Amino acid sequence: MRMPLCVANWKMYGTLAEARPLAAGVRDGLRRAKDVETVLCPPFTALSAVGEILAGSNVGLGAQNCHPEPSGAHTGEIAPPMLAELGCRYVILGHSERRRELCETDELINRKLRAALAHGLTPILCVGETAEERRQGLTFTTVEGQLRAGLAEVPVETMTGVVLAYEPVWAIGTGANATPAQAAEVHGYLRGLLSELASKDAASAIRIVYGGSVKPENAEVLAAEAEIDGALVGGASLNAQGFVTIVKKTARAGAVRGN
Ligand code: PGA
Repeated sequence: MRMPLCVANWKMYGTLAEARPLAAGVRDGLRRAKDVETVLCPPFTALSAVGEILAGSNVGLGAQNCHPEPSGAHTGEIAPPMLAELGCRYVILGHSERRRELCETDELINRKLRAALAHGLTPILCVGETAEERRQGLTFTTVEGQLRAGLAEVPVETMTGVVLAYEPVWAIGTGANATPAQAAEVHGYLRGLLSELASKDAASAIRIVYGGSVKPENAEVLAAEAEIDGALVGGASLNAQGFVTIVKKTARAGAVRGN
């Protein structure tokens, strides 16, 4: 049984004045939540404050990026040990916004992923096709390339320490989510690849979450799919009540699925 996982990606939203009540709202709303793991990924500047608010709760802390080196002359960058020191357990890597806006390559993302693992962080590796790639029938080719490159040189025994996020680029921030069937098809394909890259057992233990316009209204049908192990939520995670609803619905669907 894979424990469902819901990750809030706050992106570049959240001054301390906004982040504190949002984190506290999620923490309080999920006080009694079970059968689900929840992680908040605020901007770097709010990690410390949000970490203090979440301390001792059942909501974990994650970051939205890291540098591949543990330290060095890299102005403006944040290294994995700095995140670990703040209590981060997760780090989102390879998000399509960074691939596109900052020209992040598969090779760089792979270096970041291995660095994160080396410092005890769980990487959430994002893969996903653009609308044009889907139209051309290149969905599987695209995600396969991103997955293979992202996990290059990762020892088989540490691969279960990775979370995958399937995020079709056309569904991010657009309000148009992939249908449960569309998402499940790609998740199944990715799991097949993981069996080949690692082992069948490892593949069945690795969580693959879906991201792209997840909202309180669609969280349950998505999580009801056997292949969908939770959600990576952007816009809808900026509302505490809405995100709490998404987490609870994901937990419920996961529990039903597990029975
Ligand atoms: P969205 O973003 O939920 O706003 O579509 C998801 C993401 O970018 O991780």
